[in-house]
Amino acid sequence: MAIEVVPLPVPPSVDTSKFSPDFGREIKGVKPGELTEEQFKEVQQLLYKHGAILFRDTDLSPEQQYALTKAFDPSCETYGHGNNKTGKEVKSVLHPDLKTIPRVPQVQLIGNGVVYNHEGLAEAKLKHPSHTTFHKTRISPEDEKKGYTRFYRWHIDAALYDLNPPKVTTLYGIEAPQGDPQVVRYDDGTGDELPVPLGTTAFVDGKTMFDILPSELKSVAVRTRVRYAPHPYVWMATARSNSLGLGMETEGLEMKPDELPPWDESKIKVLPMLWKNPVTGNLHFQVHPSAIQELLIDPLPESAKREGALYPDGARLTDLKEVRDLVYRMQRPAIAPSLVYPHDWNPKDLVIFHNRGVLHTVVGAFTPDQVRAFHQCNLAASDEPAGPTAEDVKAWA
Ligand SMILES: [Fe+2]
Repeated sequence: MAIEVVPLPVPPSVDTSKFSPDFGREIKGVKPGELTEEQFKEVQQLLYKHGAILFRDTDLSPEQQYALTKAFDPSCETYGHGNNKTGKEVKSVLHPDLKTIPRVPQVQLIGNGVVYNHEGLAEAKLKHPSHTTFHKTRISPEDEKKGYTRFYRWHIDAALYDLNPPKVTTLYGIEAPQGDPQVVRYDDGTGDELPVPLGTTAFVDGKTMFDILPSELKSVAVRTRVRYAPHPYVWMATARSNSLGLGMETEGLEMKPDELPPWDESKIKVLPMLWKNPVTGNLHFQVHPSAIQELLIDPLPESAKREGALYPDGARLTDLKEVRDLVYRMQRPAIAPSLVYPHDWNPKDLVIFHNRGVLHTVVGAFTPDQVRAFHQCNLAASDEPAGPTAEDVKAWA
């Protein structure tokens, strides 16, 4: 059967004059768990071109999901965050969110509520992470009752220490509670709000994030490498996020180096700010804002104009507030309500997203009796993401 490709329906909040027409496709006519080699190649191309692809009403066992995820990067086998959940690692902000499927430990059960007799797990207590435990401020319980909520944490799925960021993530919805839509409040003084389906996963395109920057910030982006904190999810666990889930407040609350699990300088991740799409060659702004610690900015190339340029001689920014303020200024425009794709989950939806080309976040909050069960899989990649080429630097610096 031939693969049929249709655009993803976008909600009325999307401004179609700004939102990339290339973002997101639904694929019909094939079963993602039983793709032939030819079909897989086509799906792979579609994913890198469109950032996220959806299969509806599909059956997918954990084994099939692992095999499909692995096909994007055949030599890797380790879950994207590794599987070390002992010692000081238990302090990680990710620790409560992940339950491993015993038969296929690379596939995680995530969601909310209590799930019984599920793929070898007699009883799994799941907790949908929400802004209430991660942001510095929270939506009041009264406003939550009125349906207001927040983005949780904009991110790339990646350990950002020792392991390489996964190329793709597969998210398979098994049970998704239906309920009234909610409204995401940005609470950053802009008045921005975004209506979303209950329990959505929200996506933004990293290519758009770069494309809409003014030229002086494009020049910084193409010259910058980001140094992440050691064990970033443990490091950030004692600090608090801003109200958009787009980076941390700077209050000196991060864990001190000696409070972290043992770490090694050589395992710290220093990654380009822009990641090059292996199929389209486009540059995607891929920064996990809550995990950043330093920015390493190269000087302008000789051919570039210095007039109006930021950091023309390069810089190493180590002041956390300065680092965060600059990255926030670069990322905030792309999470405007008109540029966010909030996926409306139905049971048996499979979304595959290009984890090196988009940012995403969990949204909303559930009550303990609302059961949500998803299977998630991503694998620490066999290589680091490629950054801008010398030509890219020439073009944008
Ligand atoms: Fe994620």
